Amino acid sequence: MKVQDEYTGVHSIENLREIFLKQNAAKVFLVTGRKSFGLSGAENFFKKFSEEFEFIQYNDFSENPKYEELEKGINLFRDSDCDIIVAAGGGSVIDTAKLINTLSAQEKDPAKYITGEEVISNKGKHFTAIPTTSGAGSEATHFAVVYMDMEKFSLAHEFILPDAVIIDPELTYSLSPRHTALSGIDAFSQAVESYWSVNSTDASRTFAEEAIKLITGNLNKAVNNPDPECRISMSTAANLAGKAINITKTTAPHAVSYSMTSHYGVPHGQAVSYTLGDFLVYNYNVNEDDINDKRGVSFVKKTFEELLKILGCKSVYEGREKIKQLMTGINLKTNLKDYGISSEEDIRFIADNVNTERLGNNPRSLTNSELLSILRNNL
Ligand SMILES: [Fe+2]
Repeated sequence: MKVQDEYTGVHSIENLREIFLKQNAAKVFLVTGRKSFGLSGAENFFKKFSEEFEFIQYNDFSENPKYEELEKGINLFRDSDCDIIVAAGGGSVIDTAKLINTLSAQEKDPAKYITGEEVISNKGKHFTAIPTTSGAGSEATHFAVVYMDMEKFSLAHEFILPDAVIIDPELTYSLSPRHTALSGIDAFSQAVESYWSVNSTDASRTFAEEAIKLITGNLNKAVNNPDPECRISMSTAANLAGKAINITKTTAPHAVSYSMTSHYGVPHGQAVSYTLGDFLVYNYNVNEDDINDKRGVSFVKKTFEELLKILGCKSVYEGREKIKQLMTGINLKTNLKDYGISSEEDIRFIADNVNTERLGNNPRSLTNSELLSILRNNL
């Protein structure tokens, strides 16, 4: 995997000019959120450059970008003849820019690459990712999510990883408590899932461990009584969690979350955290018959002992309780019925639409009825 140019710290956004000059860029394609661009302070920063560089801005897409919106961005990018691409926003903004950049560089119909009919063969233009939330860690991953006909697809390729990353915590200072909570709990779930993923490595665990410690120590404060110090910690944590899942990908809680988001409108962070505590308990109780990690039952048990230590808990039941407390402390819901998921029919729909690829990264395999009972537990 290629190495990214990383600029971190308060005011690190100032490095953008140097990146543009280094790339000999005159015309920049800028992908942003509709509101977050102004609120984060990024817009003011880009205004300073408006005489020196030409910007073509694209922000005409929804929070969980649909294929049609992506296609529009691809056409605009191709017609614009920009030299480089920059994304400033949350996870879906960065994901959209990744897809626009990479799919614009391919010869066939973009949809074919998303469905896996065609394989990516060309790299897009130089791409800089600037997160304005502390959550998704999309700036650190080589995959991107898009919804086609309500179905979630994740496109993965080395070329998708941004070339440069700017983690400027100041851009997150104005994040609302709600947005801080939702993005922060996503980072937390990603770090925890990465830790127990069947693809974990020493490097991914180091990233995940640091992220978990920073989030348990700072998320509540960042939501309820933020100061620059905890914002800086959360920005660092989100990027570390992104680096961790870039190696391992996510597991069961993410796998089960996607239809909650696309069909019931549950925000991503809320959706992934609903089942995280129950999967901590479920995965810990792995046995020889349902082990899904080639490294064996004792390896997985040891992993969970380490994870509990990182969480500061003596048992998985205490761990599940701690996760619940973390969620309620930042005003997230802990029952599915709060988002209208209340009937047996609803949870059957969610269980039937679980993402099998992400489920394959879970250390303990899972039957449909086991998944149903986890969902029932959270009604
Ligand atoms: Fe996520």
